[in-house]
Amino acid sequence: MTDHSVPVLRWTDAPEGPAVLLLDQTRLPAEEAELRCGDVPSLVSAIRSLAVRGAPLLGIAGAYGVALAAARGEDVPKAAGVLAGARPTAVNLGYGARRVEGAHGRAVAEGAGPEAAAAVALAEARALHAEDAEASDRMAEHGRDLLLNTLLGDRRGARDLRLLTHCNTGSLVSGGGGTAFAVARAVHRAERLERLWVDETRPLLQGARLTAFEAERDGLPYSVLVDGAAGSLFAAGRVDAVLIGADRIAADGSTANKVGSFPLAVLARHHGVPFLVVAPVTTIDPETPDGAAIEIEQRSAEEVTANAPKGAEAYNPAFDVTPAELVTAIVTERGVVSPVGRDGIAAVCSAPPTG
Ligand code: MRU
Repeated sequence: MTDHSVPVLRWTDAPEGPAVLLLDQTRLPAEEAELRCGDVPSLVSAIRSLAVRGAPLLGIAGAYGVALAAARGEDVPKAAGVLAGARPTAVNLGYGARRVEGAHGRAVAEGAGPEAAAAVALAEARALHAEDAEASDRMAEHGRDLLLNTLLGDRRGARDLRLLTHCNTGSLVSGGGGTAFAVARAVHRAERLERLWVDETRPLLQGARLTAFEAERDGLPYSVLVDGAAGSLFAAGRVDAVLIGADRIAADGSTANKVGSFPLAVLARHHGVPFLVVAPVTTIDPETPDGAAIEIEQRSAEEVTANAPKGAEAYNPAFDVTPAELVTAIVTERGVVSPVGRDGIAAVCSAPPTG
C-alpha cells in the first residue's frame, strides 16, 4: 500500500478535542495537507468538496463522523442522516454512518451513559476501518489470481499485462490498499504488469492527479491518457483488461462508478476485453434492484464550463451505470462473482465474511 506522509484518514482526541483528520485530496498531488474536521458540518463539507472521497473511504468517514457526533454529545441519529445524505451515490457512506448509529443506539438501549456509548461508536468506526483494510488485501489477491491464472493466463501466455483503469481506487480511497488499483499493484508485485493505463478522469482528474500519484509512489509503470483516447488504445490491441471500482452495485450486478466507466465497458465488450469491477461487499446494495434505481449525483456546472462561454449550461453527472451484462466479473473480498447477475450477487452477499 502507498505510504502517505499524511495519513488518508485518522481519528484524534487531542489536543483540541475529538476530530477526524483527513488528507485533503483536493490539494494532491501538489501538496499533502491535513484537514481537521472537528464537527459534522465540516466533515460534510469535506465530503461534498471531495477532500475525502471514493466509496470505501466515504464509508469510513461516515462512520467516524457519527462517532464524532456522539463524542460531542450531539443528536446521533440526526448526524447519521446528514452524513448519509452528503453524497447520494456511494452506498458505503450511508452504510458506515448507519452502522455506527446502530452500535451507539444499542449501547444506549442497554443503559450506557453518553461517554460509554460514544466509546462504543468510536470502536465500531475503528472496526469498520480495519475490516476495509483487510478487504483490500483479499480483493487484491482474488483479482490478481483471476487475471493471471484464469482470464488471461492462457491468452497472453508469459506476456505481461496492460491494464486500463478509471478514476482513483487505491490507498487514497480505503483503510488499506484500495480496490481496482490494489489489483493492479498486486499484478505489478507479481512482476506481470507491463503498463497501467490511467484515464485522466474528467472533470476533476482523479486519474491524472490521484491514481498517477499512487502509481508513481508505488513504482508502477503507468501512462496518463485523456479519457477520449481509450478507444484508440483498444483498437490498437493494447488493453488486456479494464479494472474499475464501484460506488454502488445493484442487486442485479449493474454498477455505478465514476462517469466514463460505462463507455469503457462498451469498448471492452466490442474488443473482447475483460471488464472487471473490484469492490468490497459493502458496496453492494441489495435494496437497489437494478441500475435504473441508482441515484446519480449531479454536480455543479462550474466543474465543466471553465473553458466555455460565460453562462454555458452543463450536463455533469458524477457517475454512470454499467449494465451487468457488460461486466465480466465482480471481484470482492469474499470471492469473484462471474457470471454477473442476481444469483451471483445474492450468493456473495450471503457468503462468509472472509472469502
Ligand atoms: O467522485 P469520487 O471521486 O468520490 O468517485 C470515486 C469513484 O468513482 C471510484 O471509482 C469509486 O468510489 C470506487 S473507489 C474504490
